[in-house]
Amino acid sequence: MAKPGALSKRPGCHYLLAVVLSAAVILPLLVPAATAAAAVAVVEGDGENKSALSATRQWATGKDGEELVAEREAGRVDSVVEDEFAGGFDFLDSMLQWAIGNSDPEKLKEEAAGVQKLSADELQQRRQEIKELMEKLKMPSDANLMKIAIADLNNSSISLEDRQRALQELLVLVEPIDNANDLDKLGGLLPVIRELSNENEEIRTTSAWVLGTASQNNALVQDQILGYGALARLVNMGYSTSTEEAAKALYAISALIRNNVNGQEVFYSEKGGAMLQYILENDNMDVRLQKKAVFLVTDLADFQLNSGNSGLPLLSDRLLLKSIVYTLSRFDLDLQEKVLLAIKSLLKLSTDVEDFEFYDLESVLVRLGVQLEDLPSEDQKEYAGEVDALRREVLTLFQKKLKQGTATGNMIF
Ligand SMILES: *[C@@H]1O[C@H](CO)[C@@H](O)[C@H](O)[C@H]1NC(C)=O
Ligand SMILES: *[C@@H]1O[C@H](CO)[C@@H](O)[C@H](O)[C@H]1NC(C)=O
Ligand SMILES: *[C@@H]1O[C@H](CO)[C@@H](O)[C@H](O)[C@H]1NC(C)=O
Repeated sequence: MAKPGALSKRPGCHYLLAVVLSAAVILPLLVPAATAAAAVAVVEGDGENKSALSATRQWATGKDGEELVAEREAGRVDSVVEDEFAGGFDFLDSMLQWAIGNSDPEKLKEEAAGVQKLSADELQQRRQEIKELMEKLKMPSDANLMKIAIADLNNSSISLEDRQRALQELLVLVEPIDNANDLDKLGGLLPVIRELSNENEEIRTTSAWVLGTASQNNALVQDQILGYGALARLVNMGYSTSTEEAAKALYAISALIRNNVNGQEVFYSEKGGAMLQYILENDNMDVRLQKKAVFLVTDLADFQLNSGNSGLPLLSDRLLLKSIVYTLSRFDLDLQEKVLLAIKSLLKLSTDVEDFEFYDLESVLVRLGVQLEDLPSEDQKEYAGEVDALRREVLTLFQKKLKQGTATGNMIF
């Protein structure tokens, strides 16, 4: 989790945490029972598990004040402490002074003797435990980190570099679903969507990425983003001459309309089909983009197969079907496999295979069979065999559908 920008900029919002942690580390030297109670009370208030804390307390007890100071000065204190609790050390220092001035030397000696009995492994384990505790304590601050990034994004006078950094921070922050749900509440969705129209390609790309990540498997955020009308802009970005930008736009679109009937209808009305078709029928298009486009079609078809929703007109769009069949002639086994899977789902869905017949699917599949047998190098043989098996399956399904179609065609239309 790299979010250095916001971390370094963060104001004193961790002061309380620093106090709690300092108390957990220092006070046990003096009054273990009272401290444990105090620290646990705070931690419980945050709904955290207290078992890690008692382990921490023991670890802390194993060190005397001078050791801690020495370690810190030697730079051996975990860097997480330094980054996260910068600003807390003044307090830590005064605590130490006080602790050293007021502690019972005999007791400290006893404690120090105790720590020597710990093996290196045990010490390491306790370090790990305190690190995990700090990770937990850090969690509630995600909202603050998001606020800082959003404020930066919303500030028209920050540099391009800072803008990109703010977006990259959000990209990491919106991964947990709770944070994604907070994004709109914190006023963050609109600024991110606005960046889809930034003049800078990299900024546009990262914004699409953030929107895709935030809406992944999240109906609430999907609807929020759709509600702000961002899909039209994303469809537009699919035409970008930058592969990276188009790829992130497709990623965001897929995440937005996945299992979302409303999103799929908007995608259709925004002419998403024409954008997919553009990607598929362009011979110079990056093959990774074509794979994403085909995968999106399969996903839409499978959703319809499983949900029994009435047909999305997109999936029977003749020009799109034509471009999908056309893509089979590009020799890339992985792409061909994905295209075959798409056609298989579309055939299952279709009551009218006439369109595929029109584009001569049968002879394309037969030609592909010859190609798969002839062309592959030794190391591709096995994969080519698998793709060929799928090809035969699709061919059989097509022929079956074709027969059914001619038998019942007049009744359907
Ligand atoms: C606290 O930790 C213990 C031991 O690791 C675990 O059994 C328990 O379920 C945890 N409780 C909570 C609330 O996470
Ligand atoms: C916006 O950014 C500029 C330049 O970084 C800064 O000086 C200014 O204080 C910021 N404004 C707000 C409202 O944060
Ligand atoms: C963004 O800035 C506008 C004014 O420029 C302000 O009205 C809005 O509240 C700000 N949003 C956030 C999330 O800071």
